[in-house]
Amino acid sequence: MYKIVVRGGNELSGEVQISSAKNAVLPIIAASVMNGGIVVLKNIPLLEDVFIMCEILESLGAEIDFNTEIGELRIDSRNLKDVDPSDKLVQKLRASFVIMGAMLARFNRAKISFPGGCKIGSRPIDLHLKGFAALDSVVEKYHGYVEVKAKELKGSDIYLDSPSVGATQNIMMAATSAKGETVIRNAAKEPEIVDLANFLNAMGADVSGAGTETITIRGKKPCMDIEYTPIYDRIEAGTFIVAAAITKSKITVKGAVEEHLKAVLAKLKEMGLKIDSIGENTLIVDGRGTLIPVDIKTMPHPGFPTDMQAQFTALLSVVPGTSIITETVFENRFMHVSELVKMGANIKIDGRSAVVQGVDTLTGANVVATDLRAGAALILAGLIAEGETTVNDVHHIDRGYMKIEEKFKKIGADIKRIDV
Ligand code: UD1
Repeated sequence: MYKIVVRGGNELSGEVQISSAKNAVLPIIAASVMNGGIVVLKNIPLLEDVFIMCEILESLGAEIDFNTEIGELRIDSRNLKDVDPSDKLVQKLRASFVIMGAMLARFNRAKISFPGGCKIGSRPIDLHLKGFAALDSVVEKYHGYVEVKAKELKGSDIYLDSPSVGATQNIMMAATSAKGETVIRNAAKEPEIVDLANFLNAMGADVSGAGTETITIRGKKPCMDIEYTPIYDRIEAGTFIVAAAITKSKITVKGAVEEHLKAVLAKLKEMGLKIDSIGENTLIVDGRGTLIPVDIKTMPHPGFPTDMQAQFTALLSVVPGTSIITETVFENRFMHVSELVKMGANIKIDGRSAVVQGVDTLTGANVVATDLRAGAALILAGLIAEGETTVNDVHHIDRGYMKIEEKFKKIGADIKRIDV
């Protein structure tokens, strides 16, 4: 168990390097078993979720060699077995559910324990299961497990009631080994979907249209051994950009892909933040000017990402004026608000919206990272709070930010990790 202690008030400066995207890396690791061969993944971040996903694959018989010095992950799935992954590991990681699509593609069968709900919302899996059923498989739920079986998967025309990221990924993977053509309509358009499609195609699959609302998969089993480098983490990049804004500092963010950050950058520019691209996925962010309040509504991509909502709540809590933040993706994603209020923020929740009245200053407090992005928001708040902020339950933050305190320290923050 760790906590992070931040002493607010330091100006940030210098350069921060963004890692590969957790949300791209996890499905790609799962999909790596689909070729029945060897996959080498590069620039893989050292994250708790990545370690758990690797353990899950090992529990299925894959051989994993993770060179953590250089972030190179070698996955050998030649001896993968048609067995059920460890319940204990699966329940640690909601994203582990994407192993279903990969296993189904490889063995025409997959069984996994039901992924639990999560604090940010109930997170059902109905769309994943409807998609599998449409591919002519039989879906059974019993004793807390989901089992999906098919004699042979068959291509289908699938309409998603909402553009679920995980369901799109699961169906896309399973459909690579289905006979004929599968079309996913109202598919998720996130950059991480495009990255998975690129990865599958590099292994020999035939996926087109990823990044649009209609994805077509022609049944063609991925079978090639490949090397692949996943995309940069747009949420980590967004978090550091917000750090510059909240601390009124100028920093360089390397590995920030403008194309993936459009909604976030548009909002920050609307607030008055100066952001310049100097090419090669590098942004210079200058937060030394005056910022104005804005309203935000989270939406599926290309809308404003729910995964940046908490960080913006922290930022807007110190921007004079009123901002209204509406969360439409998850039903319970304002848990950071009560922690920010402990630090002096003036925020009121009204149904799915938070009304933020910017205050002059926050004060350090003992707070709890209730989930991954909530934890990041509290560190951001701590960077400008008077005195010391202690963020507890740092394991949530470690799920998705690699060495967050080291990255902040390198650009001038007074921050340390304490082993409790
Ligand atoms: C992914 C991301 C997560 C991000 C989220 C939304 C990963 C590992 N995680 O999560 O960081 O916050 O996208 O951008 O990539 N839903 C259903 N039925 C389903 C599936 C989803 O109703 O079968 C609902 C969910 O409850 C939620 C919404 O759809 O309200 C979006 O969920 P989804 O896009 O599936 O998110 P995840 O893939 O779980």
